[in-house]
Amino acid sequence: MHIGIPAETQTNETRVAATPETVRKYVSQGHRVTVQGGAGAAASFPDEGYTAVGAQLADAATTFGADLVLKVHSPAPGELALMKRGAVLVGMLDPFNAENTRRLAEAGLTAFALEAAPRTTRAQSLDVLSSQANIAGYKAVLVASSLYPRFMPMLMTAAGTVKAARVLILGAGVAGLQAIATAKRLGAVIEASDVRPAVKEQIESLGAKFLDVPFESQEEREAAAGVGGYARPMPPSWLARQSALVHERAKQADIVISTALIPGRDAPTLLPSETVQAMKPGSVVVDLAAGRGRVADPATGRRGGNCPLSEPDKVVLRHGVTIVGYTNLASMVPADASALYARNLLDFLKLVLTKEGALNIDTADDIVAATLLTRHSEVACEVER
Ligand code: NAI
Repeated sequence: MHIGIPAETQTNETRVAATPETVRKYVSQGHRVTVQGGAGAAASFPDEGYTAVGAQLADAATTFGADLVLKVHSPAPGELALMKRGAVLVGMLDPFNAENTRRLAEAGLTAFALEAAPRTTRAQSLDVLSSQANIAGYKAVLVASSLYPRFMPMLMTAAGTVKAARVLILGAGVAGLQAIATAKRLGAVIEASDVRPAVKEQIESLGAKFLDVPFESQEEREAAAGVGGYARPMPPSWLARQSALVHERAKQADIVISTALIPGRDAPTLLPSETVQAMKPGSVVVDLAAGRGRVADPATGRRGGNCPLSEPDKVVLRHGVTIVGYTNLASMVPADASALYARNLLDFLKLVLTKEGALNIDTADDIVAATLLTRHSEVACEVER
């Protein structure tokens, strides 16, 4: 099969969907691999690395014209026009975006959106949300520490003692837990909040304090149990109590990393402007949900994140607090982000390619069925909001 690896063209995207390590494996399986010249350059994978393992360098039209195209993001309309009807596309294809899904179906593609894979043990090695959120959580802490005007660890010096930074993590999924681990390594004192009580133990085992907001009704308990491991929107009663606690803890915090998401819905508001106003001057907020929250500015349509003041891909100063709205932190660690993502793709392809290299879509396989977004001209799975 001809596998094509085009360069990514989205603004601020530095990742690539295959590395020399994975290309070597595709070539050894008998596939012909073409890589767009320069596709891996921003991730520190120069063209020679790919040719050394048997790939050919090609232009965008050739790589998009392959039988199987591996991408980080869904192709732009002009790029889709370069693809063959009946070709297979694998990537992070934004499955909640119905308009994009329709475009892929209209292009006659068999498309797999890896974000839709179930969060099961068997799916772990191809779980792109985990591999990339893990990196985002790590980088969020490093970005925060570099903007924070003080030390992170407690230090005793001849000139006096420096207090450890207090870090508040909102949302303790994959990104939040990695943020806790990273902040801990830098010597911070950490507290974390999540709707899912199951994470209490994980938070504590990483050396952070769990901010408990006890449930007061069956409705609250059921919402917190979530679906498929994901959070569901919590009832207003619980959110009000959480908000009061977060407000108090944010006032004491030096750094807040917010990562709370609810798949297919607007990210919850956890740091309203009143809370930011109450924070200490010089504090830093890194909002991993920037651009995915409610519309914060109806005039421009700008969406906030967990904080309505965050602006996608910008660093802004509001009420003396630095608010970081980077939306693609994984791309700021491009070599490892690409290496892990490329391995996710390699593992996924084992489910849909036979040993002889032919396509075999077995929809009885739960991972294949969940990720299959379009098949030829049909929308195979409507991901409900
Ligand atoms: P996510 O990125 O969808 O959300 C981040 C976190 O925000 C979650 O922990 C969520 O509970 C939390 N959150 C949502 N609303 C909140 C609110 N109002 N206040 C505070 N926190 C809030 O989550 P992610 O990281 O994708 O993980 C989703 C689930 O999948 C988790 O249960 C995780 O443990 C599970 N998982 C399972 C894997 C496996 O078994 N293979 C692999 C990776 C994740």
